[in-house]
Amino acid sequence: MTSRRDELTEEILSLKQRRGAVILAHNYQVGEVQDIADFVGDSLELSQKAARTEAEVIVFCGVHFMAETASILSPEKVVLLPDINAGCPMANMITAEGLREKKEELPGAAVVCYINSSAEVKAESDVCCTSANALKVVESVDSDEILFIPDQYLSHYISTKTKKKMSFWPGYCPTHVRIQPQDIIKRKQEHPQAKVMVHPECRPEVIALADEVLSTGGMCRFAQQTSAKEIIVGTEVGIIHRLKKENPGKEFIPASEHAVCPNMKLITLEKVLWSLQDMAPEVKVPEEIRLRAKAAVDKMLEIGRSG
Ligand code: 13P
Ligand code: SF4
Repeated sequence: MTSRRDELTEEILSLKQRRGAVILAHNYQVGEVQDIADFVGDSLELSQKAARTEAEVIVFCGVHFMAETASILSPEKVVLLPDINAGCPMANMITAEGLREKKEELPGAAVVCYINSSAEVKAESDVCCTSANALKVVESVDSDEILFIPDQYLSHYISTKTKKKMSFWPGYCPTHVRIQPQDIIKRKQEHPQAKVMVHPECRPEVIALADEVLSTGGMCRFAQQTSAKEIIVGTEVGIIHRLKKENPGKEFIPASEHAVCPNMKLITLEKVLWSLQDMAPEVKVPEEIRLRAKAAVDKMLEIGRSG
């Protein structure tokens, strides 16, 4: 007997072909959405894919800023976000107007904008970065003074690695701040042989306890390369699906079961199918903003990944 999941998968795959669509999914998506995607990756990898794909339609299984970035890079394509309410609270912690005011206070600073931000905010920035290349981007900028927005914790982490003068915006990820130092300490006691990898959106006290500080794509690579058999994972729990699938012989222990991004979980198989049926909801960036935002995203793509 075929399950509802099998039926949905079949319908999605056949409609995807008829629409000439590609399905991109972030590492935090629920397992069954990851499993029907053409490509699963981190923010940088997904924006690289969105820039290069020849598909006419991109179904973006992620959050709003990710779909916007795809639209910024490929304006001729239809970019679908299966649930338009899938936002990123951190991205919403800064507005273009707020950034303009801050820039006036710091006229000499170059603005490095984490990709977790709106197109309007990117349009006010000099260059974008993701967690996979933030340090490389900061080092490459032609200024010794940086205004890093909107994630204060990623900014703090980078400030420990660079000599540049860093000013920050007080944004944060409500999911990653749920991971507490005590969680890591407890997991390490339970699994003394385990390696600890955490995302740079975590608090500095959590980062201080980690063996590796990595983007989600970096975590997937590290998991494959390390000889460690147990790994404590300090990021959103959705990534565990991919880690287990790619590394059947290893054990992955979430640092905290509370690290769930409710926005990432809004995307379901049903909504992916409906988005392909309705060709909606579509994400499109107004041309004047798009062109300015694209300059900042293109600069980042030229710089690439750190490792
Ligand atoms: P990555 O770019 O490392 O996948 O992170 C995206 C994100 O939203 C982290 O919360
Ligand atoms: Fe935004 Fe945090 Fe969710 Fe990433 S995990 S999309 S930063 S709220």
